[in-house]
Amino acid sequence: MKFKFTEQASTKGAVCVAIFAGSKFSDAANAMDDASGGAIRRAIDSSRFGGKPAQIIEVLAPVGVNASRIIIAGVGEQNNDMTLAWEAFGAGVLQKVLTSGEQELTFITGDLDGSYCARIAFGAKLAAYRFDKHRTKLQEDKKPSITSICIETSNKKRARDEFSLLDEVAEGVHLARDLVSEPGNMIHPESFAERVESLSKNGLEIEILDEKDMGKLGMNALLSVGAGSKYGSKLAIMKWFGGPKGEAPVVLVGKGVTFDTGGISLKPGNGMWDMKGDMGGAAAVTGAMRSLAGRKAKANVIGIVGLVENMPDALATRPGDIVTSANGQTIEIQNTDAEGRLVLVDALWYGLTSFKPSRIIDLATLTGAIIVSLGHENAGLFCNDDSLAGDLTSAGKLSGEPVWRLPLGSGYDKLIDTPNADMKNIGGPTAGSITAAQFLQRFVGDVPWAHIDIAGMAWKEKRPDPRESVWATGFGVRLLDRFIAEYHES
Ligand code: BES
Ligand code: MN
Ligand code: ZN
Repeated sequence: MKFKFTEQASTKGAVCVAIFAGSKFSDAANAMDDASGGAIRRAIDSSRFGGKPAQIIEVLAPVGVNASRIIIAGVGEQNNDMTLAWEAFGAGVLQKVLTSGEQELTFITGDLDGSYCARIAFGAKLAAYRFDKHRTKLQEDKKPSITSICIETSNKKRARDEFSLLDEVAEGVHLARDLVSEPGNMIHPESFAERVESLSKNGLEIEILDEKDMGKLGMNALLSVGAGSKYGSKLAIMKWFGGPKGEAPVVLVGKGVTFDTGGISLKPGNGMWDMKGDMGGAAAVTGAMRSLAGRKAKANVIGIVGLVENMPDALATRPGDIVTSANGQTIEIQNTDAEGRLVLVDALWYGLTSFKPSRIIDLATLTGAIIVSLGHENAGLFCNDDSLAGDLTSAGKLSGEPVWRLPLGSGYDKLIDTPNADMKNIGGPTAGSITAAQFLQRFVGDVPWAHIDIAGMAWKEKRPDPRESVWATGFGVRLLDRFIAEYHES
């Protein structure tokens, strides 16, 4: 899809104007209404359109203008920060016309602030994402028809400059969605690692550790998860040094269980297929690294993803097995389905010891319990540092990928004690997301650390957000990108 910013658009195809809540017209909408002999006002009068977000009406084949259709779309109430509102506007309109048969979509924005114009384009790009690659029988009239998007604006330069950065963020989101959507036979630890390797063309320095390398380092917690898989487990490291030389990096760690059967503690069959998305944390970290490199972020950031497949097999880990993690602590694996934390602690250890980060953040589809707590509206945030928690919470609000902090504490920590080893990998029947976070905390020491449980966010059955056009959301890419932009770039 092509994006263009111009002062004077040709206004062929679908042409869109924004209306604010209460049917308040922008200048651009007024001009279009005049040109079409009042078609917009008449359309609004003959409908229940009120300018609310996500409200859209279409006027087909209007007289007096070149456009083959006028799209009248609501933006909602005007307020101080319309960034996310304009994103949602662009996304909603694009979804409306994507398969309409129109090839061109033009937004008439008049003198709307250039960064808001860029947000319209960003929203449209996010909404245009599809996962059609495995569909060989998609009917012609169900295929996307829009090939180019034009933003007519008097603030062309600002709009274009800001979109060129957001475009890179959208590429990162699309990459994360691709990774989450691909099934376990297509994205497994080895093919995921290859995709990471291909990001060297985007300017990232890549390093891949295989099972032999990790064995030497004593990363037996991670290795125990992949023991039953025919694919070799991998640790993929992406490095971006765009910040001051020698400045301690931020390390991002992702859970990359490319398929989670539960292992010997096998999950029930119903709905198990969606565990192809259990690498959502790794996808978010990979997508974020792609975004940061793409927009040449002025920060030092390392992405580390632990890539394993959790399968039952003669060689698989058994419940009750005890393993020694890379930092020396022993773990009794009482349930092989609580595997994400085993992957994360060795990946965290690698990040801490190799890079001495200023802050370390992990993302993981870690627990079903976080969906019970927060549903599909917020990711769960666990953090040992109030300033880091505050920064992530703000970045979440600004990016539209919100996180909600939950507590840690010694009472919860006791729940993972066991007489047989330093700790067990499950707690009791209560506070499942917190005991998982306590487990991680035992490996991070004093370094400011945050754990973001994205089990309810990495994919969604229902998609109320127009930016999220498919099952996989790419959650985390915009959050991490914004976090780095706000708090780690000079
Ligand atoms: N990958 C799952 C968590 C999950 C559940 C992610 C639903 C997305 C949607 C994780 O590995 C898991 O199986 N967790 C167990 C932990 C339990 C055995 C302590 C769970 O949540 O049931
Ligand atoms: Mn599991
Ligand atoms: Zn899992």
